[in-house]
Amino acid sequence: MHLLYTFLVLLSLSDGFSANCPGRCSCDSMQSMQCYRLIEVPSGIPSTTKRLYISHSKIQHLQLSNFTQMLALEDFILLASGTESVENDTFRTLSTLKTLELWKNKLRRVPSTLPASLEVLKLNDNLIYVLHGSDFEGLKKLKILELKNNMISALSPSMLSSLVSLQSLMLDGNNMESVAGPLTLPHLKYMSMENNKLHLIPGSFFTSLQSLQFLSFSGNFLTAIPINLPKSLLSLKMERNKLKIVRFQDMKHLDNLSHLYLSENLLSSMDGAQLLANLTTLELSQNQLQMLPLRLPARLQKLDCSSNLIQRVTAQNFQDLRDLKHLFLDNNTVSLFEAGALQRCSQLSNLALEQNLLLSIPLRLPGTLARLDLKGNAIQAIAERELKGLKQLQVLNLRNNKISALDLKALEGLPRLRHLYLDGNPWNCTCSLLRAREVLKAKGTDVRGGQCAAPAERQGENWMSSKKILRQCEHHLHLTEKSKETKKKLKHEDLSSIKVNMDDDDDDYEID
Ligand SMILES: *[C@@H]1O[C@H](CO)[C@@H](O)[C@H](O)[C@H]1NC(C)=O
Ligand SMILES: *[C@@H]1O[C@H](CO)[C@@H](O)[C@H](O)[C@H]1NC(C)=O
Ligand SMILES: *[C@@H]1O[C@H](CO)[C@@H](O)[C@H](O)[C@H]1NC(C)=O
Ligand SMILES: *[C@@H]1O[C@H](CO)[C@@H](O)[C@H](O)[C@H]1NC(C)=O
Ligand SMILES: *[C@@H]1O[C@H](CO)[C@@H](O)[C@H](O)[C@H]1NC(C)=O
Ligand SMILES: *[C@@H]1O[C@H](CO)[C@@H](O)[C@H](O)[C@H]1NC(C)=O
Repeated sequence: MHLLYTFLVLLSLSDGFSANCPGRCSCDSMQSMQCYRLIEVPSGIPSTTKRLYISHSKIQHLQLSNFTQMLALEDFILLASGTESVENDTFRTLSTLKTLELWKNKLRRVPSTLPASLEVLKLNDNLIYVLHGSDFEGLKKLKILELKNNMISALSPSMLSSLVSLQSLMLDGNNMESVAGPLTLPHLKYMSMENNKLHLIPGSFFTSLQSLQFLSFSGNFLTAIPINLPKSLLSLKMERNKLKIVRFQDMKHLDNLSHLYLSENLLSSMDGAQLLANLTTLELSQNQLQMLPLRLPARLQKLDCSSNLIQRVTAQNFQDLRDLKHLFLDNNTVSLFEAGALQRCSQLSNLALEQNLLLSIPLRLPGTLARLDLKGNAIQAIAERELKGLKQLQVLNLRNNKISALDLKALEGLPRLRHLYLDGNPWNCTCSLLRAREVLKAKGTDVRGGQCAAPAERQGENWMSSKKILRQCEHHLHLTEKSKETKKKLKHEDLSSIKVNMDDDDDDYEID
């Protein structure tokens, strides 16, 4: 008898076929249960169950009687189950409940009288349209509250006043048109209200948020950065708003701010960000900047000014930026790049200048560059002096320019070059280009060569792989016995370079 019992327990532990594990459920252990495609909360759930997960079911209404036996329940997760309503007091007696997640349902309000033990409440993707102060009454332990993608239209202090331990509040994707303050949430670290309809944040909103570190208002209609932001802030996201101007004077108390995201606004100029002494990341992509920002903070490591209307890059812009590692200036109208403009940036490793109007490769770029992207400019030639000193360069993208010939000396000065993109240029496939090909192959550089534009009889041939051109140029290549051997070896390398081509996605360069 005892043996049989042991056997049954083992069986229930291993594959959940015990009488205790309801149909359509699997019971990983005696305390955790996962169920799919139910039409009701299973009855007869063991009273020791700690975690109950139900998804893709049809459970319109939850009632108190469905939970009365779950005396040890800590986590209840009900996903995508069409739940429309929860009877009053349903969760009240679950005094051990810590996590309640009711995602992707059709709830129109926050379930009433939640237990004081609750630490995590996630009600994302429902139809909740209003919050009441009573919804969260007594939830002194609640740390995480998520209400993303509902229909809430306003937020006021009384709604959240009980949540003295709250650390994270997510209200993205609602209909919020106004917020009122002060929110008294002394431990709040993360707050996100992305994709709402906010026009204005009142100055009083932040006065009692003294622990706030991460704040996002991206995707609203704000015309100014809110005033009185908490001093504790590390990261501020204001992307996709209607900012025309940023007044750093109002932000200079933000000693710890290190990340500022302002992409997709209406900024036409910027000056004075050096007041944010600890800023390391500044994103300004897709604005209307006609010039690079003036007086940038000296600790900046990443500056993204891509997709603006910037025409000139001068040394003055970069004088103090000794920590800069990543500079994105792609998709602008840069035609003037002062020689040595980035010489003081002695950490720069990544420079994006694709989609501009450059006629030549900028002179005296920093020797620390690992990636240089010049795709889609109007560069006509590669000169030795332009690439001289780029001893760390690993990726060079010159795709879609107007280059027709390759200066071998220029490329020989790049000892670490691994990827070279040359396609989309009007190559003049002379036999000296073929010599460059042999050298590049011998160096082991992965090259996208592209097609010949001239001479007429070689048009459309791929000069890195064409056997036809190789045959025609054989006598020009002065093949000695030794280099014939190299040629054999190179044939083998042809195959391996194809393999490299297929999995070099890690270089972030799309194959177009
Ligand atoms: C809840 O329990 C009642 C009986 O107590 C039952 O009739 C009903 O189907 C259950 N509802 C759900 C959604 O499980
Ligand atoms: C449920 O609670 C709400 C507010 O707490 C109350 O207005 C409502 O009358 C209650 N409904 C029932 C059926 O008790
Ligand atoms: C700023 O950061 C420092 C170091 O992490 C911390 O000690 C300090 O309390 C922060 N200041 C504020 C106002 O939070
Ligand atoms: C910000 O800068 C100040 C001085 O410039 C420094 O004392 C402080 O530690 C910095 N805070 C952070 C988070 O780096
Ligand atoms: C280039 O910039 C324009 C204007 O900001 C933007 O609409 C476009 O999407 C950008 N293109 C790319 C490839 O980033
Ligand atoms: C290609 O190069 C050859 C040899 O240098 C030159 O004679 C010819 O004009 C060039 N063709 C074009 C289209 O530039």
